[in-house]
Amino acid sequence: MRLRLRLRLRLRLRLRLRLRGASTLGGMAPRMTRPVGTPTRGTTNPNRLRRMDRWIAASHGAVLRRADAPPVAVDLGYGAAPWTAVELLDRLRRDADPRARVVGVEIDPARVAAAQPYAREGLSFAHGGFEVPVAGPVDLIRAANVLRQYDEDRVADVWARLCARLTPRGGLLVEGTCDEIGRRHVWVALGPEGPRTVTFATRLGSLDRPSDLAERLPKALIHRNVPGEPVHAFLRDFDRAWAAAAPYASLGARQRWIATASALAADWPLTDGRGRWRQGELTVRWDALAPRGWGAPGTPPP
Ligand SMILES: C[S@@+](CC[C@H](N)C(=O)[O-])C[C@H]1O[C@@H](n2cnc3c(N)ncnc32)[C@H](O)[C@@H]1O
Repeated sequence: MRLRLRLRLRLRLRLRLRLRGASTLGGMAPRMTRPVGTPTRGTTNPNRLRRMDRWIAASHGAVLRRADAPPVAVDLGYGAAPWTAVELLDRLRRDADPRARVVGVEIDPARVAAAQPYAREGLSFAHGGFEVPVAGPVDLIRAANVLRQYDEDRVADVWARLCARLTPRGGLLVEGTCDEIGRRHVWVALGPEGPRTVTFATRLGSLDRPSDLAERLPKALIHRNVPGEPVHAFLRDFDRAWAAAAPYASLGARQRWIATASALAADWPLTDGRGRWRQGELTVRWDALAPRGWGAPGTPPP
């Protein structure tokens, strides 16, 4: 009986060590405490995060390429299957930096074990949470459809934690939400200093009006889409500009989106231009959409 118990304990310890040792990229940070966060639904889909991947490569590729060491990216909360981590590695290597490496981090140990057959050169999987169990600072953290299952009041703290894990010069956190097949996406991009921009990205053919994207707002904004909040005013103006650009519809949804963005740029601080608008994207400065009171004394800014 005792022997069986000892064997079982030894087996459990070995499994735990194997999970901890899963990431070989830059070495694992020794973890003294439980992963930070809570396991949630693992819904994912192949190619779901393509819009986010493309935006990261386009807007951040040059910074990654400039890094002295091979850049390390973390796909935080990759879900029940590791497709999004596999794809992030492929896209970063193809479109940003051929030296890129990806660590998929999951808080659910069974999902880490299930991902191991997909590990290969440049791609590993590790058990962990918002502490990000990778040694040293990382160049990119992508957390898609993770925070949406947490309470809104956790966002600032989680952002601060993740931003603190970024390389001080050039690190990027991308945190956001999309639908099941990645047609509609909204994400916040943050640097080590905090939030910078909000990007709306969509398959234009599937759009009735821009505020269709409201249901995919990241956790920091989704409960703020009410009168009196900046994000509500922005989506209202976005819809108005889209309606005014209706004559462009005969040239296609892309031309209509570009005309809409051009009009919106008169009143809102957009940070991108036609090149990205053509992709069905639009990026606006975070401070224009930040919830009222964000960053004020006594409120929880990162
Ligand atoms: C809905 S899935 C998203 C999968 C994938 N990122 C996607 O967008 O398709 C959310 C995953 O995040 C994981 N998760 C939740 N909190 C986490 C945390 N603090 N650290 C790491 N993973 C976490 C959950 O276990 C779940 O597998």
